[in-house]
Amino acid sequence: MKEVVGAHHEFHDKKFVSEWADRFIPTPERVKLFDLILSELKSRISSSSCVVELGIGPGYLANHILARMPEIEYYGVDFSSPMLDIAKQRLKSYFSRVTYVQADLVKDRWWEDISLPIDAVISTWSLHDLGSQENIEVVYRSCAGALKDGGVLLNGDFIKPSGARHEYEPGRFEIEKHVEILRRTGFNAPECLALFEEELESPTAAKNYACLKGVWYK
Ligand SMILES: C[S@@+](CC[C@H](N)C(=O)[O-])C[C@H]1O[C@@H](n2cnc3c(N)ncnc32)[C@H](O)[C@@H]1O
Repeated sequence: MKEVVGAHHEFHDKKFVSEWADRFIPTPERVKLFDLILSELKSRISSSSCVVELGIGPGYLANHILARMPEIEYYGVDFSSPMLDIAKQRLKSYFSRVTYVQADLVKDRWWEDISLPIDAVISTWSLHDLGSQENIEVVYRSCAGALKDGGVLLNGDFIKPSGARHEYEPGRFEIEKHVEILRRTGFNAPECLALFEEELESPTAAKNYACLKGVWYK
């Protein structure tokens, strides 16, 4: 059988989640993605803005951002209670600035528990897990509805690199398609800011991720 680049997850299982969090402590390459998101936030939003992270997971990106933007208000959305428990533990020193929202990004109206409009939506390594381009479009569209005029969406997620010879799971698709979906959902001048750990010959589930950006204007 042809091997598909992707991963099987059990995000509602406590043991699986704890092992996932230990296995994916950020590498220097991933920290570069966090730094890129941070620098975009710093250049686009004010110091006391509201930032929403979709698929907060164990809270690695949140920790990076909250430590370096000491006045922002932060929302972490995730459907996994074991992930939210780990994030709460990691981010406990920021408790007054962080609100956790347990919701399914596709099936639930996650934005209803957040005071709108928001300044920025960020995410890493999460939206591909929604399993299809259609579901990612649903989420990009709901982000557009939740952002304020001039708000920014930064999605650092797994993609299928151009020239790929392998088959990829459906949530991992070409940068050009992300850009097209961002444009279709109303984002202005969507673009890819960077591609990380590009690997065509021997891709693993933890390689080939890009930082997609879209700015929302009414
Ligand atoms: C691969 S982990 C990445 C976690 C974190 N963003 C990081 O970079 O370390 C994907 C995260 O997305 C969450 N997730 C996956 N599908 C989801 C959905 N439909 N609704 C909400 N959260 C979801 C999982 O529970 C998990 O925390």
